[in-house]
Formats: sequence, structure tokens, C-alpha cells
Amino acid sequence: MIIQGIHLLNFRNYGRLDLDVGPSVNIFYGDNAQGKTNIIEAIYVAGSVASHRTSKDAEMIRFGEEGYSTGLDLLCDDGGKMNVTAEFHTEKSDLSKNVRSYRVLMQDGVKIDRISDYIGVCNIVIFAPEDLNIVKNAPAFRRKFLNTLISKVSPSYFNLISDLSRLMNRKNAYLRNARNSRYDEAARTEIETSLDFWDFSIADLSADVIIMRDRFSRILSEAASKHHSDISGGKEKLSVGYDTISGCSVPLDAFADDDRQHDAYMKKGLSGSDYTRIKGILSDTILSKLKSARSYDIEKGISSVGVNKDDLDIKLDGLQMRSFSSQGQQRSASLALKLAELDILRMFTSSTPILLLDDVFSELDADRRASLLSAMKDAQIFITCTDRDMAVKELAPMESADSARYFKVSSGNVSAG
Ligand SMILES: Nc1ncnc2c1ncn2[C@@H]1O[C@H](COP(=O)(O)OP(=O)(O)OP(=O)(O)O)[C@@H](O)[C@H]1O
Ligand SMILES: [Mg+2]
Repeated sequence: MIIQGIHLLNFRNYGRLDLDVGPSVNIFYGDNAQGKTNIIEAIYVAGSVASHRTSKDAEMIRFGEEGYSTGLDLLCDDGGKMNVTAEFHTEKSDLSKNVRSYRVLMQDGVKIDRISDYIGVCNIVIFAPEDLNIVKNAPAFRRKFLNTLISKVSPSYFNLISDLSRLMNRKNAYLRNARNSRYDEAARTEIETSLDFWDFSIADLSADVIIMRDRFSRILSEAASKHHSDISGGKEKLSVGYDTISGCSVPLDAFADDDRQHDAYMKKGLSGSDYTRIKGILSDTILSKLKSARSYDIEKGISSVGVNKDDLDIKLDGLQMRSFSSQGQQRSASLALKLAELDILRMFTSSTPILLLDDVFSELDADRRASLLSAMKDAQIFITCTDRDMAVKELAPMESADSARYFKVSSGNVSAG
């Protein structure tokens, strides 16, 4: 799949933009703060309904406006054409100070109600300076990376995560209220009964989440360590482990570590009867962990145990990268992880990923730039940079260099050339 046209309305510093783009490499160049990253962000939002820079949609609305729209004209691999458009609107009520906000997703002008039905349509992978957060920042960045990757391969996972997070928010609200009445004997029995109900549903959904995350963490680890070995000349070994509720990875080790089952497990996951059996074991384990933590959780008004605490354990030669690696080592690892994401999407989805490279050339040294470009052959690419001449030089070795299209970005205006 490739993008043929981009349509923006009131997105960041763009009022209106309707732009035809090329099928291979598209370079957006210009001075700082002109709107290069904003275009890349808009393309990513149109494909993934999420920004790589912010979780607040309102920030992407052009100052002084009430909503944004970002749309892509797509040419599908089978030759068909399609348009996808993501909009976000706010409405101020005259009677109260509250601002109502809502999202509109459309495919060929028809509204799509569920985000999961929209995000699988168009595969976009973004490489940006923010990728470094995956390696060096808090667990939430790694969970977001893993969740995004799995959702692209399996959009129903997105619904699973949304359902679980809704349930956990309600349980947490309940726990905060329950704190006030925890010393009352009769109230305590009622609290226990309600929490039994929450925990049963939470354990059930969490087991599904763990089964997905465990498998994709292992796939990610294999693919990322291969890329990392290329980038680092085989000098260092990168590994990615899945850190979840204690004891929950153990039943899955049996499939991943068994030579006869490994490949089938990685490619297809658990089969029907194994899935039911393992899910039962995991749900029981999670339920007992939630019960053990219950007194503490009621006391504090929080959920101290759960997949909401999951993390990826990213190590270089056995040492945790977040704490022990240099900036350069973290950069190589984050690049390897993103290249692994690209591999996984190529492996598991039928549509070719579209690649966005925001400011990546200035962040990487020559070897890493070469690794990146060699992984991107045949793909449609959108690149931002400040220096047009540098982009021409960097891209020269690529086969698609001759057909590259250049766009100058200046104060929210884009002109070809
Ligand atoms: N919601 C918004 N409404 C209007 N303008 C915005 C909004 N959000 C950001 N901007 C403006 O967009 C500009 C930054 O755009 P962008 O991040 O795309 O720059 P850039 O061209 O990528 O620059 P650099 O080369 O420094 O990365 C800033 O001038 C900023 O004020
Ligand atoms: Mg930028």
C-alpha cells in the first residue's frame, strides 16, 4: 500500500494542505519549526489514530480552531484506491465550562465506529527521536510500543486492551472509594464481594493479554537481536524479555523453549486446546496474585498487581540498558527494535508498511543510517531533514533515489522542488 495524497485541515500549523506525493521517497526539508514533523505526525495519526509526540489530541488542533482532520489517499496492493480520514473535534458548551470532544474515523467517507476496524487498514511505521524513550524511559513507553505493534498485527488486541483498561479504571475508582469504609465490618464484606467480581473479569482478560504480549516479546527479541548484531558488528548481544505478573511466563516457556514447538508457537501462537488450558492456568495464577495483594490495595486505594505494570526487560550483554548503557548503545537498540517492528509487520500483515523518518539522519551515525536505509528498500518513505543537499547525498546509494520527490516546508506551506 502507498500514500498518493495527503489532506490536512487545521492540523498543528497547517490551515489547509492538499498534497500529492510520490510512490517511493518523499523528502520534506526546511528550517526548524516550519512544520516538517507536523506533516509526519499527521500521516501517522491518519493511519494509527495516535501521535508519536503526544497523547493529547487537542494539542494537534491548530491554535484557535475547534478540530483537526488528517486524511490519506491510498493505493492498495491490489490496485484499488481508498481514503482514510481521522478527525478530532471539540465543542464548548454555552451552559457549562466543559469542553466536549469526539473523534470521527472514516474510510471512503463512511464512518468507522471502532478504532480497531480502522487501525488495521494502513500499516505505518515511524522512526523518530522519541524512539529512544523505548529503551531509556519509563515502562509505559515500552508498553505503548508493544501494544502498538501487537494492535497492528491483530486489531482485536486493541479492543482487549481497551476493555481491560476500562475495567481497571473502574476497579481503581472503586478501590479509592472503598478506602474510606475499610474499617467497617459489614462494608468490608461488601467490598470483598465486589472485588471478587472485578478480579474475576480482570484475570480473564489479563490472561489473554499476557498470552499475546509474551509471544510478541519473544518474536521482538529474536528480530531485534538480529538487527542489533548487524548494527553493532556482532560485538554485543541485545535481548528483550517480557516482565509480567510473577509466574505467568512460566507456562508459556514450555512452548517457546521446546525445539519442536518453537516455530509453530512463534508463527501461529497457541492452538485451541492449548490456548484454553494455558489461559485457565494463567487466570488462576493472576486471581491468586490479585487476592494476595487485596488488603494492601484496599489500604492504598490502588491496583499494585496487574498487566498495567508489565515491562520489557531490554538488556545488552545481560545488563539492563535503561540503567547501564551509553546514549549511543541506547540509540542502536532503539533502532534495532524499530527495525524489528518493521520485520514483524512485514511477516504478519499483508500490506507493505509505509515508513516515516522524522529527523533520523541527524540523529544517527553513518553505519546506523546505512542499516536503516538497507532495511527500507522497496518501501514508500517520508523523510524530514533541514538540509536538502544532505538528503540528496544520503539517498544517493538507494535505487529509488532518482525518483525521490522533494518538498520545501515553510511556515505551514509546502511546495514541490
Ligand atoms: N496546535 C498548533 N497550532 C499551530 N501551530 C502549532 C501547533 N502545534 C505546534 N505548532 C507550531 O508548529 C511549529 C513546529 O512544527 P514542527 O515540529 O513540524 O517543526 P519542524 O519543521 O519539524 O522543525 P525542526 O526542524 O526543528 O524539527 C512551531 O512553530 C509550533 O509553534
Ligand atoms: Mg521536526
